[in-house]
Amino acid sequence: MKGRDFLLAIGTVPLMAAALFAQQPQWTIGMSQCNLGEPWRVQMNADIRKAAEAEGRVKVVFKDAQNDNLRQSGHLEEFVRAGVNLIIVSPKEAAPLTRPVSQAYRKGIPVIVLDRRVLGSEYTCFIGADNKKIGKAAGRWIAAALGGKGKVVELKGLMTSTPGQDRNSGFREGIRGSSIEIVFEADMKWLEPNARKEMESALARFPAIDLVYAHNDPGAHGAYLAAKAAGREKQMKFVGIDALPHEGQMYVRQGVLSASFEYPTGGKEAIETAVKILRGEKVPKEITLPSRVFTIQTIDKGGELVKD
Ligand code: FRU
Repeated sequence: MKGRDFLLAIGTVPLMAAALFAQQPQWTIGMSQCNLGEPWRVQMNADIRKAAEAEGRVKVVFKDAQNDNLRQSGHLEEFVRAGVNLIIVSPKEAAPLTRPVSQAYRKGIPVIVLDRRVLGSEYTCFIGADNKKIGKAAGRWIAAALGGKGKVVELKGLMTSTPGQDRNSGFREGIRGSSIEIVFEADMKWLEPNARKEMESALARFPAIDLVYAHNDPGAHGAYLAAKAAGREKQMKFVGIDALPHEGQMYVRQGVLSASFEYPTGGKEAIETAVKILRGEKVPKEITLPSRVFTIQTIDKGGELVKD
């Protein structure tokens, strides 16, 4: 090799090293997902993975708690022992996950709580949409759709998780002052098969039902299937929450749901926030994500922003 070529070759070494270094993740994030049995949670993990890959500096280790609080508490302990740089947790239930989250936080590991809350404030940042606002908007929308009166079934999400509580209390606020009557309510724990069973009971007991408000789209779809099996699906409307493009939005297009309220996964925002924290930047304690409502009239223009 001639002297000049040798110098050129040598010159590329630091560049190559820098490129290699830039591609090596600098930080490890532990992500504990409460379950992967529902499309919305699969989407959340996909959003996190995509954002992390685009960012390049973080590596995410995913764990699935399979809807088990104890297993999820164990994830947090494992992440602490493994010395991850940051934890993202989407908790199953508020009370059982509060202690493990605060223990990790007290050990100095930043914790981002995503979508469902824990109790108290011993975490770094909470990211999620405003479930009370979504519930209230659903209540107003439903009252208007029924002309201010009618018989409604409410299929609630897990009432020991904060979105279930807020989607319920917000809804009750939204219908206040109308003559909407809740004839049947049940906790379907976010699960389509439970919603279907509960709806079978509601159908057996009430000959007239005008609308089903379910706290998520799988719940609304389960109720629809029960009504269809009873030949009554055309007699009532169905409203859900989540509005994933391939789930709730598709049901709206098919005429199965009259409305679906978006519940953003926050996966992208969690990674953006994680990187800020890891770089030593200050982040807000709460990041509230916007929601959109999709109906057959608005779906082609991307729905409408949910307002206060
Ligand atoms: C998935 C899910 C979503 C819902 C969210 C609330 O587990 O039930 O359908 O919007 O959790 O935390």
